[in-house]
Amino acid sequence: MKPIDLQATALELVAPGKGILAADESGPTIEKRFKAVGVISTFEHRRAYRELLLTTPGLNAFISGAILYDETLRQQTSTGETFPAMLARQGIFPGIKVDQGAKPLAGFPGEKITEGLDGLRERLAEYGQLGAKFTKWRAVIAVGPGTPTLTGAVLNAQALARFAALSQEAGLVPVVEPEVLMDGPHELARHQEVTELMLHQVFRALYEQRVQLDGLLLKVNMVLAGTECPTPAGGAEVVEATRQCLLRTVPAAVPGVLFLSGGQSDLQATEHLDALNRRGEVPWQLSFSYGRALQAPALKAWAGRPDRAALAQQALLQRARCNSAARFGQYTAEME
Ligand code: 13P
Repeated sequence: MKPIDLQATALELVAPGKGILAADESGPTIEKRFKAVGVISTFEHRRAYRELLLTTPGLNAFISGAILYDETLRQQTSTGETFPAMLARQGIFPGIKVDQGAKPLAGFPGEKITEGLDGLRERLAEYGQLGAKFTKWRAVIAVGPGTPTLTGAVLNAQALARFAALSQEAGLVPVVEPEVLMDGPHELARHQEVTELMLHQVFRALYEQRVQLDGLLLKVNMVLAGTECPTPAGGAEVVEATRQCLLRTVPAAVPGVLFLSGGQSDLQATEHLDALNRRGEVPWQLSFSYGRALQAPALKAWAGRPDRAALAQQALLQRARCNSAARFGQYTAEME
């Protein structure tokens, strides 16, 4: 392993004006997303939809990397090229989700632990051969009255660090994703408290497990009021809470922080990223790795109809363009 390569790739993934497209929905998740637009989730529909997204003309101006699911990494475009080869040709790094989902944590009602460490070294070697350059592992933390417990936070942090260490060993840049969900009635301050707890545990585990901080990226939630919170937070509060939370917990050696959209509307995800970059004065690149907030309008436009592929690509490109502007704090409502 050459440490410098990891850092160089991490820096390219957060190059100014660019972000990551998360298109790594697992089988059950893509089925849910397809169902919402009346599409049956078949092998071919999933392939066609992902081909449409990933071959969008001009996408590489705004997108540095795309996170794929195991199935997609092995599929081919209609011209017979593998997805990783097609992406690499466009200068987009192919990435791969390597966790195997969050399962209930035994003995801790309401908490989850992400699985997928067994056999991971061998899977990573194969993913590298298939063309992946970076990897993602997501821990899912729900905010409840007494959760997460310290045990739940520590166990998830340790799994993230095991994943990150193995990825770096394989020469792949780990995207370390502890997601504190926005679901629930909690206030902004509570979301900040839990996100801080989680990030402290994550960086402690990364240090203890000798993970190279300048060769990874952090993917995390913005600090928000819960979806059922009676006192919703405004943009300025979100910016201050998110910034403070990150400054208190994330070492400056980390090249970039990628936000997930996590159920925010497309516009909100763009506006918040823009406001964070306008505020500035942080040691890391603040970028995006959105799934829903990049794909939602494209999926709706497509709705399974091949004749609407170009329309869907325009919708994706529009979100990518706006989020690219938000990387510079230069997004305006007129761009919509
Ligand atoms: P969302 O942006 O839809 O939250 O998805 C990002 C992601 O990859 C979560 O792991």
